Parts: sequence; structure tokens; C-alpha cells
Amino acid sequence: MARIKIAYIGGGSTRAPGTMVSFIHQGQNFLGSEIVLIDLDEERLALVKKLADKMIAVRGLDLRVSVTTRRRDGLRDCDAVLTSYRPGGFEARHLDESIPLKYGVIGQETQGPGGFFMALRSIAVMKEIIADVEAVCPKARVFNYTNPVNIVAEAVTHNSPVWFAAFCEGPLFFGHDFAEWIGLDRTRMDVAMIGLNHGSWSVRHTYDGQDFMPLLEHAYAARCRDTSLPAWKLRLMNLAVTMGALPAHYFQYYYFKEEILSELQAKPTTRAQDIMARVPDYWQHYREQAERDDPQLDPRRSRGGIHELELAIDAMDAIFNDRGEVLPVNVPNRGSISNLPDDRVVETQGYLDRHGITPLAMGPLPPQVLGLVEMLSEYQSLTAQAAWSGTKRDAVRALASNPLVFSLHKAQAIYDEMAAAHARYLPERLLR
Ligand code: G6P
Repeated sequence: MARIKIAYIGGGSTRAPGTMVSFIHQGQNFLGSEIVLIDLDEERLALVKKLADKMIAVRGLDLRVSVTTRRRDGLRDCDAVLTSYRPGGFEARHLDESIPLKYGVIGQETQGPGGFFMALRSIAVMKEIIADVEAVCPKARVFNYTNPVNIVAEAVTHNSPVWFAAFCEGPLFFGHDFAEWIGLDRTRMDVAMIGLNHGSWSVRHTYDGQDFMPLLEHAYAARCRDTSLPAWKLRLMNLAVTMGALPAHYFQYYYFKEEILSELQAKPTTRAQDIMARVPDYWQHYREQAERDDPQLDPRRSRGGIHELELAIDAMDAIFNDRGEVLPVNVPNRGSISNLPDDRVVETQGYLDRHGITPLAMGPLPPQVLGLVEMLSEYQSLTAQAAWSGTKRDAVRALASNPLVFSLHKAQAIYDEMAAAHARYLPERLLR
């Protein structure tokens, strides 16, 4: 088993207790390893450590957890770095989700102007993290969950030799959800999705080895006017049947832009506010459980459930224990998707072993869905470069190329308002 040192940046976040559950669940695969929790908030770090230490002790595992607020010290001599943080927290996300709505543009965590500003903030921090990695653990492998994972990965892989891959559970559930929605068993689905993160389509979709699309088509024809199904599920089924492939849920923001914009404008709160209303109870629950000898996290009172960031831990296991496993990954394309550029970070299937990640040859995206993915991919590249080293003009150019914006006046006005609102998280060059 791999004895490694893992730094977890975001180790005091609301998702961190769930991530520690995932780790401890796979503890046997990492015996003798150390996990360094790195975050800004000492109190939360201490609480996550207390929870983790108790869970480890109950299971008799040989794992060590330490904490620090000094990132560079925590990173020293690490083999793996897990990054999952949200610069500006949910308050900043609330601005991302609400400001664009005033301009008639969808506000969303990873899409449109919201995702764009999240990218600018996340990459500003990632640039510092990567400088630390280059200085104190240049051979470490970085497993990133910080959103928008595709743009963050695009920025790093074009600007640093550090080993970097991004992960998202989306491709493991987007396709399978369709089976569940039509009353079938999701575990009998086999789905492979390719494209971009939050922008992928299935190129393999079988149920018990048979093509799933006729089953979906039949079910949709019978239920397309069934008002007991939520509108968003019906829309996604409609999109899947029309395109002949299963979409990432996030495509609804593009193919049903008008409906979703009206729904978001009519909703009294943003998603960030909905989450913020629950955060105090999550921490209350974590505090209560940390007092017990055998802490048990209740998925209903834990952010995101209790098996957070599991895919990154699976990926670490596959690489450091040389398992030779196929998992969804976000890495430079290198021919995996034949009609996207070779150096573009794509979401695809990767083969993971001690050599790292080899993207598998998955063929092309079909023409009926390719155009939008290409636009999003060019936007991804422009945004990554603007965030890493560009000027305000580069950034406005990138925002104007986003398919949810596509208006220069709107791009300029939204940029000015959002850049001012997020000024303390952005480098000076993006403000002038
Ligand atoms: C999924 C996506 C993540 C995203 C999250 C939002 O897990 O893959 O990228 O951050 O949903 O969930 P939330 O509860 O924050 O709205």
C-alpha cells in the first residue's frame, strides 16, 4: 500500500468532514500515510481533525492527520495535493448568481458570468498554490476539485510543469440519472461521457448491454406531458431524445436559456443563499459528532452527503497503488476526443496507474452537439489565459465569447459591476 503525504487545501471547508469520511472509508489503501489539512480557519481545521482522529481511532487505522494555516509549510514534501476551495465563500457565489440576472443573463456557480468570476478568483489562488508546489513539492500530483474545474485545469496545464488533473463526479451520475427518472435501475447503466466538465455528452449509453436511447425515447413519449415530473427533468429528457445522447445536466442553461432565466429571476433566493441557510446546522452537527467516541455523519446534516470528493481519492488510490483503473478525468485531450484540440483540457475517460493518467481514445463528439462544446472550449481557453496572466481587455473578450453572454455591451457592463464586487479577490491587472 502507498504510504504517502497528502495535503488537502480546503481541509477546513464545509465539505471537509465528508471528504475525511471518504478517505477513512478507503483508509486500508493508504496505511501509514499522513493527511495535512490546510485552510484559513484554525477553529474549523481543529474540528475536522478531531472528527477524523476519532474515526481513524475507532477503526484502528494507521493514518495521521495534521493541520496548518501555513500553506507552504503544509505542502512541503507532499506526494499528493487535493484542492477544493471557494475564494470568497458562498457570499461571493451569491454575487455570481445574482448580479448577471439584472442584465438578463443566467447567474450560475460554474456557467456564464458567475462561473467566469469564480474562475478568475479560483485561478488567482491556484497560481499561488502552484508556485508553492513548484517550490516545495515539485513532484507532487495535484488533484483538483476547485471550480470551474475545467478552466482551473486549463490555466495550470498551460502555465506550469506540475502534474495536474481535475475531477468531478458529474459524469458518474448525469447519465445514470436518466434511468432513475424513467423508473429503471441506475446500477444497470453503463455510460461514458466526453466533452468538457459540466459540458459533456454520452458516447456510450447502455442498459443491461442494450442501447439505452430507445428506452428513454419510449418513456419520454409516454410521459412528456406528465406534470408530476419536474420541468427540468422533462427538459433534459427532451434534449437527450432530440440529440440522441445523454447530456450533462448543465446543458439545460443553454438549450432552455429563456425558461431558466425567468425561473431564476422569479426565485426569491439564490442557490448560495439556500446553502448558507444550512451551513450553521452542518457545523453544529459536526461539532456534536466530534464529541462522540465514534462520530457518525448524517448525510442530511452534512454538506454534499458523506462521501465527498470520493473520485479524487479513487484516483489517488489508482495511481499510488498502481491499480490500472478507468475513471472520468479532466486532463489535456492528447487525441482522446478526436474533434477537440489536443492541448485543451477535456472531460474524458482516463486510464490510471503508477504512470499517472492516460486519456483513452473515445472518438469524436457528434456534429449536432459539437458546435456549442467548441464555443465553450474556446471560452475556457480564453478565460484560463486571462485569469492566469491577462489584462482586463483579455477578460472582457473571454466573457463576451461565453455563449450565455454573447453581447459586448452586456459583457462590459457585467464585467465592471462584478469585478468591482469581487475586487479584493482579483489581481490588479484585471481591474484596470
Ligand atoms: C455538482 C457539481 C459541482 C458543483 C455542485 C453544486 O456536484 O459537479 O461542480 O459545485 O454540484 O452543488 P451545490 O450544492 O453547491 O449547489
